[in-house]
Amino acid sequence: MTALLEVSNLQIAFGGLVAVQDLSFSLRKGEVTSLIGPNGAGKTTVINLLTGFYLPDQGKVTLNGQDITGFPADRYAKIGLARTFQNVRLFSEMTVLDNILVGMQHLIPYGVLQSFFPNPAKRRGEKDALRQAKRILDRVGLIDLCAEKAGNLPYGLQRKLEIGRALASNPSILLLDEPAAGMDPQETHELGEFVRSLLKDVDAILMIEHDMKIVMRISDQIVVINYGKLISMGPPAQVQNDPVVLEAYLGKGATKC
Ligand SMILES: Nc1ncnc2c1ncn2[C@@H]1O[C@H](COP(=O)(O)OP(=O)(O)OP(=O)(O)O)[C@@H](O)[C@H]1O
Ligand SMILES: [Mg+2]
Repeated sequence: MTALLEVSNLQIAFGGLVAVQDLSFSLRKGEVTSLIGPNGAGKTTVINLLTGFYLPDQGKVTLNGQDITGFPADRYAKIGLARTFQNVRLFSEMTVLDNILVGMQHLIPYGVLQSFFPNPAKRRGEKDALRQAKRILDRVGLIDLCAEKAGNLPYGLQRKLEIGRALASNPSILLLDEPAAGMDPQETHELGEFVRSLLKDVDAILMIEHDMKIVMRISDQIVVINYGKLISMGPPAQVQNDPVVLEAYLGKGATKC
């Protein structure tokens, strides 16, 4: 399978701390890739690098063979990358529907000036956006809550709304930072199935997740990092039996009991 997104020798340091070091992996079309590693391993930093929140010190990222390294954050949305955040970032006072519409801003085809002067093109654009936003809310199971304030949703549903907002930019690659965090086991199980089903909507998914049951169940490929460095990579059956991975998670000697 050909690589859709290729990360080569990516590196960034914060002061003396090398948070991501010489990291290479790729995302393939039709696959869920999980990025795992202990707390502080550099996982979120990888998503920040892939979406223009940080500029890498070294390395290269290509999308369909095009060099996209160091693009500004707003350009990543336009070329088809969308993310969610480890700590939910919604507009809590806005409705569920408006949170989705915010995610669609760059798809609405009229400029700032036109927005002051109502015209048919603008009305058509708004109608299309509304239809699309409702379709997404249906997709993430929140259509019945579209008029609710986002801040009033239970945490698990706020996470789904975040995924909806990411889908609103019509991405080809979805980057999810701990989508199951704060969910109970049943919600976590359902979320796993849901994330896998998102391959109907996007070409590839990169998921950071601590819940190993989800990771092992839904991933095609797992990338394991520790202290910013790649320590293992491969399909779930291979990675879960890799002694280097067990050691990173459990520490030396922890398997003795
Ligand atoms: N903007 C920053 N400035 C300084 N240090 C940072 C910055 N962002 C991340 N770091 C440091 O880089 C390292 C990797 O952080 P990162 O958030 O990527 O880890 P993580 O694997 O996502 O951890 P967790 O599982 O806890 O979410 C940590 O030591 C963190 O403190
Ligand atoms: Mg993180």
